Amino acid sequence: MTLLTPTDLRDHAEELIRGRRATRAFRPDPVPEETMRAIFSLAGAAPSNSNAQPWQVEVVSGAARERLAAALRSAHAADAVTADYTYSDEMYARAHQTRRAAFGAEVYGALDIAPDDHEAQRAYHARSLRFYDAPHVAFLFVGGDARTRLAADVGAYMQTLLLAMTAYGVASCPQGLLSFYADTVRAELGVTEGRLLVGISFGYPDETAPVNHVRTGRATFEEVTTFHA
Ligand SMILES: Cc1cc2nc3c(=O)[nH]c(=O)nc-3n(C[C@H](O)[C@H](O)[C@H](O)COP(=O)(O)O)c2cc1C
Repeated sequence: MTLLTPTDLRDHAEELIRGRRATRAFRPDPVPEETMRAIFSLAGAAPSNSNAQPWQVEVVSGAARERLAAALRSAHAADAVTADYTYSDEMYARAHQTRRAAFGAEVYGALDIAPDDHEAQRAYHARSLRFYDAPHVAFLFVGGDARTRLAADVGAYMQTLLLAMTAYGVASCPQGLLSFYADTVRAELGVTEGRLLVGISFGYPDETAPVNHVRTGRATFEEVTTFHA
């Protein structure tokens, strides 16, 4: 293994961390199995409280993916929402709401969907449940009693996984939307333990899709960081 100097690592970190972005249109080409093994092995290096590693990961491809997409379509049509972790707009502070609105306007703008066109948005959600046409999707379940603290560990796993994918040239989109259909996912995959935190669609990006050209901004670090001395 070639050892990188701290300067090399810093440059790579910039590229890796800032180079990851949510992809919302994929080509159908599958990720080679060997690449998948390397990525998921690397993701397991994520930190967790007391090294408990309270995650369980289900990776879905091929015919199983097709069956799951069909089941999600039916669940969506029937409004059969079953989220293990509750979600509501009220959980966001005002500053967070403002950022969400700006982001929504960007994405819907790239998709040519008007902000008040709820029917078009619902149709887009239905399409999202086909994993943005990605050939693979990984579901992250939180084990144990699955309370918030353990979910934070699984969040650390998620980001490690996303960065590992980026390093291997694999594009991804974490989709909280998929967690709204937890019972459907569980039933299709035969999962009996844990709570569903998030699904991550992954594969290779369709660079021709305008939605993949959306670039999100961030608050400055001064806005969210305080140094105490
Ligand atoms: C936990 C989580 C859930 C998300 N859920 C969705 C989702 O349901 N649909 C979607 O298109 N993007 C989803 N995203 C992607 C975010 O919108 C995206 O990460 C954010 O806007 C920042 O953009 P970037 O990832 O391109 O830097 C989710 C991201 C996270 C971390």
